[in-house]
Amino acid sequence: MKIHLIAAARPNFMKIAPLYHALKREVWADPVIVHTGQHYDINMSDAFFRDLELPDPHIHLGIGSGSHAEQTGSVMIAYEKVLLKEKPALVVVVGDVNSTMACTIAASKIVYPSLPDGSDEDQPHNHRPIVAHLEAGLRSNDRSMPEEINRIVTDALADILWTPSADALDNLLREGVDRQKIENVGNIMIDSLEMMRSKIESADAFGTFGLSKGGYGLITLHRPSNVDSLESLTTLCRMLIGASQKTPLVFPIHPRTRKNLNAFGLMGMLRDTDNLILTEPMNYIRFMNLVFNCKFVITDSGGIQEETTYLGIPCLTMRPNTERPVTVDQGTNQLCAMENLQGHIEKIVAGETKPHLVPDLWDGHTAGRIVDFIRRRTRQRVPARIGS
Ligand code: UD1
Repeated sequence: MKIHLIAAARPNFMKIAPLYHALKREVWADPVIVHTGQHYDINMSDAFFRDLELPDPHIHLGIGSGSHAEQTGSVMIAYEKVLLKEKPALVVVVGDVNSTMACTIAASKIVYPSLPDGSDEDQPHNHRPIVAHLEAGLRSNDRSMPEEINRIVTDALADILWTPSADALDNLLREGVDRQKIENVGNIMIDSLEMMRSKIESADAFGTFGLSKGGYGLITLHRPSNVDSLESLTTLCRMLIGASQKTPLVFPIHPRTRKNLNAFGLMGMLRDTDNLILTEPMNYIRFMNLVFNCKFVITDSGGIQEETTYLGIPCLTMRPNTERPVTVDQGTNQLCAMENLQGHIEKIVAGETKPHLVPDLWDGHTAGRIVDFIRRRTRQRVPARIGS
């Protein structure tokens, strides 16, 4: 069974890796990694393939950066050609980036030409691939986020919806999705973390920055709503400089953020701040070593809200909402307005942290549950659209 795993941007790589390794162990499965090229820098892409022990992508679409429409359209055009040539039986898309939506649309509308001898006539599912969305059902209910549009479109079209948590399943049911299409499989990112735990624990990235265990905060910021305008990025920089007076901070800077810090003339003031260590984006193992050993995280990433919840590390999310409410209700995450950042950090440094739980099925066995699901459901003769 030819299974395309679509990988595009940094947060996708740790979602496909456990599934690729699990499928590779199955005799019936032929997993094929399709990289759209949305992220292309060595430290945004290749370094993650290396750390996660993935082979080079089997197929590379080489799309690169662009406006939303350019990126989405270019991926659709390139992936449609691949679909017609390769005819995968299953396409697995992950997360919520532009390429996730683009490949979902292309795969949902493709029609494979029938075999000339008509021998495939009784197998309607052979005329197009089944599309499965891993990390389905997350909703911020904020359509100004490009990812929210990607989530809604992807979930509306995918045949199989693998959710990470009960709230995601509820969101889909509320939207009228057929229950049969949904399976709560848990959080695949925790599989990557557990798969790499021993390497992460022995990496000593924090030591190489001269930091001590539990003696620093870690920052990641890249959302357009935070970093694309002069006003919000200036306020954030001032807040971070203020926070660095309390405790050392490490800030691996995303390319989007770096571009804007330079364009707005803000990089200099960050560089001149003693307790603030600026670095390039880091590979998975070294970055996770920084997460494992920090006192708290300041972020606007989605995945880091989940990783900190799993690890029990306080997380301050610089956003008015989250598509991952389970990390706030059960985990260590708190939504944080810029003006409250200082106060939150003071409390954390003083040892005031909230009680927390690890959500159900965030246990490092999600890839195994997905492989069982595929074996059970899609390898039998099923209608082209599961549940229809
Ligand atoms: C994308 C995803 C976002 C995800 C994030 C993780 C969408 C809409 N957004 O945002 O959900 O959280 O990835 O990083 O899909 N760039 C480089 N090198 C790279 C990649 C990007 O320099 O390897 C620069 C380019 O200038 C590019 C900009 O970063 O224009 C933004 O990249 P893009 O992939 O469009 O969006 P992200 O902000 O990374």
